[in-house]
Amino acid sequence: MKLQDKVAIVTGSTSGMGRATAELFAKEGAKVVVTGRNEERAKAVVDAIKAEGGEAMYLIVDTSNVEGCKVLVDKTIEAYGTLDILVNNAGMLSMSPVAEVSLEEWDKVFKVNVTSALYLMQQAAPIMKAKGKGVIINTASVASFAAHHGFGAYVSSKHAIAGLTKSMAFELGPEIRVNAIAPGLIHTAMVDSIGGVGVLQFMIDQCPVKRAGKPEDIATVALFLATDDSAFIDGQVIKVDGGYEC
Ligand SMILES: NC(=O)c1ccc[n+]([C@@H]2O[C@H](COP(=O)([O-])OP(=O)(O)OC[C@H]3O[C@@H](n4cnc5c(N)ncnc54)[C@H](OP(=O)(O)O)[C@@H]3O)[C@@H](O)[C@H]2O)c1
Repeated sequence: MKLQDKVAIVTGSTSGMGRATAELFAKEGAKVVVTGRNEERAKAVVDAIKAEGGEAMYLIVDTSNVEGCKVLVDKTIEAYGTLDILVNNAGMLSMSPVAEVSLEEWDKVFKVNVTSALYLMQQAAPIMKAKGKGVIINTASVASFAAHHGFGAYVSSKHAIAGLTKSMAFELGPEIRVNAIAPGLIHTAMVDSIGGVGVLQFMIDQCPVKRAGKPEDIATVALFLATDDSAFIDGQVIKVDGGYEC
């Protein structure tokens, strides 16, 4: 097993790519901390992991809240004694044009998509540095590289997480490697909330692979980045988009 006895926090793991990543990490032997705001879904993920013989617990945390992020790391250490892998995956969409977006919405998007990754890194890094090893995986997007009409706050936040990933890698090495995954169109609840993959058919048409991604397409890349198989990859924002931006 590739993650035997490793301890991993996966934010936003009550759904979508986070859930697939949590389940794959547990299958590979990690003790996984499942997080999100929805307790019913969090419990369902932990139950599914345990039913497969894996180890997991859930913590209900709004990652836009700095205290919540501290509690998340503290309780992980209390329960499992250490932290090896942090996956900053929780995220929210914003569909207001930049000329109209309220400062409240802008701040919320940045708190959930960017600042939470900073908060959690600040809690996790001293633990990983002290043990001499750790991995942080952030969640960027194809929106980290290009703009899309009407998604200004989201696009800006995903550009910011790319910069934060590179800055973290510079400052946290050599003990801690930091990379980001930049998914293309992945069929999850987030995409369903704006009408499903059909609404974004143009993205599929533009992909050489001619399909939307599945959460598992991201989880397998997260597993690669979490292990020493990727030991010489650091500070990268890796597109996993079916060739959308090739
Ligand atoms: N789907 C795509 O096509 C796509 C493409 C590029 C990038 N992404 C990024 O991929 C990541 C995962 O999204 P997904 O597509 O898998 O969507 P999803 O299925 O809707 O999952 C989003 C997750 O984030 C959690 N979350 C949202 N706001 C939160 C908050 N304030 N505090 C704590 N948890 C919060 C949700 O949990 P609760 O509801 O339980 O709080 C949920 O588990 C996001 O960062 C997203 O921006 C998605």
